[in-house]
Amino acid sequence: MNPTESAAASPATRRLLPVADGRRTRAHLRTALRPRRLLLAATTAVMVAESALGLVGPIAIGWVTQAIVDGRGTSAVIGPVALLAAAAVLGAPATWASNVLLARVVLPEVARLREDVVGSALALPVDTVEAGGSGDLVSRVSGDVERVTEAAQGGLAGFVSAALAILATLVGLASLDWRFALAGLLAVPLQAYTLRWYLRASRPVYAAGRTAEGHRTSALLGAFAALPTVRALRLGGRQYARVQDASLAAAGYEFEATRTATRFFGRLNVAEFVGLGAILLVASVLVRSGSASVGAATTAALFFVGLFDPINAVLGAFDSVQQAAAGLARLIGVLDATPASAPVPAPAGSPEAAPRTARQPVLALDRADFGYGDGPDVVHDVSLRIAAGQHVAVVGTTGSGKSTVATLLAGLRAPRRGTATLDGVPLADVSPAALHGTVALVTQETHLFAGSVAANIRLARPEATDAQVAAALDAVGATGWVEALPDGVDTLIGAGGHHLAPGRAQHLALARLFLLDPDVVVLDEATAEGGSDSARLLDTAATTVLRGRGALLVAHRLSQTAGADTILVMEEGRVTERGSHQSLRAAGGTYASLWEAWSRPG
Ligand SMILES: Nc1ncnc2c1ncn2[C@@H]1O[C@H](COP(=O)(O)OP(=O)(O)OP(=O)(O)O)[C@@H](O)[C@H]1O
Ligand SMILES: [Mg+2]
Repeated sequence: MNPTESAAASPATRRLLPVADGRRTRAHLRTALRPRRLLLAATTAVMVAESALGLVGPIAIGWVTQAIVDGRGTSAVIGPVALLAAAAVLGAPATWASNVLLARVVLPEVARLREDVVGSALALPVDTVEAGGSGDLVSRVSGDVERVTEAAQGGLAGFVSAALAILATLVGLASLDWRFALAGLLAVPLQAYTLRWYLRASRPVYAAGRTAEGHRTSALLGAFAALPTVRALRLGGRQYARVQDASLAAAGYEFEATRTATRFFGRLNVAEFVGLGAILLVASVLVRSGSASVGAATTAALFFVGLFDPINAVLGAFDSVQQAAAGLARLIGVLDATPASAPVPAPAGSPEAAPRTARQPVLALDRADFGYGDGPDVVHDVSLRIAAGQHVAVVGTTGSGKSTVATLLAGLRAPRRGTATLDGVPLADVSPAALHGTVALVTQETHLFAGSVAANIRLARPEATDAQVAAALDAVGATGWVEALPDGVDTLIGAGGHHLAPGRAQHLALARLFLLDPDVVVLDEATAEGGSDSARLLDTAATTVLRGRGALLVAHRLSQTAGADTILVMEEGRVTERGSHQSLRAAGGTYASLWEAWSRPG
């Protein structure tokens, strides 16, 4: 069986976030480590010194033994013993220094990588994340980062010290008799072959295993997120089965990886057997012919046995490097999936910059087509333009594509054909930072984050003062009910906090929008029920927030459309009517009859 093939063939794997290839991963590593190359060189030097100190022990003990065997006096022992003591005294600070230096090189780089990946992930097009599932992202920023850290910290140190130990032992073997070293080297081709086999066999297993873990996290998060629905519809069994399948798949790869590793170490044992056998054979020949003493032969065999551990450590380090490489490729895949940053097209205003001028950006869709996933187009050939302070309203029956157009215009999704641009720059190329504060989308799915009311408002501008937060609440007319909450603006809301009605959550979203003060607002609320007090309150709040800004309004009450500069009527994903309230009424089409029905008394 070939795990690569089965992974590639699995339909679930195809939809996950991209994974970088080896070349791209290495290029990223080089760029990331270049500014730290001096520190890296210093770290390596200290690690070499540390390993060298570790070798002093056996050598000094050898000298002592030799001195005793030769029957020399105590004075001959003092030198080696002093050396031994010095190495022991220096060993501790050397270990400390190499650990500190390594942490200095590795940890900031890993932390930055994690931050970059989270930042990129948050800026990913919504459809990319939807297709991959947030679990894939979560497993990348947790498990994969973990593996990279472990390999960089533990693997590297182990590798260097073991490699030095091997080198020193080989020199020791050769100094006994070059034929011992030659015999020991017989194991090398076998080890090299085994390593090559292992790297080839395990790489795809690790990569597929990490992917399967992503699926498992997705399945778990999905089940938790849908908990109320799952309970209500008694879908627990089905969810359980999904999680179980994903877990079994992930465990399957782990099993496969362990099996490959076991075979790897088994083959290494064969190599050890061959090497040791060769040394014993050479030893018996040399001892018989009188060219080596029994003591030297014993030392040679012990030297070779002493190599087993470091060799396993070096080859095992390849294992952790391999796992880290699989993780790193997944992290860099996220970085690369994010649109490159383009220059900020327009500076975001501040709450004080109230009177807006004509230097606001133009947000436009031009002949845009869009469909979800692999599905057919649900929006066809839609063009619209929101210039400074202009309000464009969209009306249409349910499913006609209004919300889809809103997400295209807000840059959450990218059109399949045609363009979505901000001042002529494709939205996909505008950096999230530039888009934040320029274009804001407000939908009916207002999410409240766990935290205080003030913290939820302040999300728009983390640096906003208490007075600015209060001013935003005041502007949208929410101060009254917010102050009536148990702890006022400090009341905890969101998951686990004080429950707010959906209308109130939207009210807070409008206050947040006021604080954010974007140039263009895309408003897609679903407060279809007109007339109620809360709907009127939201209407007034929306009017306040939209004043002086460009806006796309997905209108559910025609009272919202009458004041718009342009009204678009959508049917089955196409714009079928376009014009001002007056002209569309006069035209006597769909809008005119909608308006008739809406404004008819009773
Ligand atoms: N996430 C999605 N995945 C697949 N299809 C979708 C998704 N969201 C919407 N659609 C489909 O796209 C089409 C347009 O939907 P859209 O939500 O844009 O309509 P709408 O005009 O906003 O409707 P409503 O008035 O009910 O809000 C519909 O056929 C809908 O089923
Ligand atoms: Mg909608």
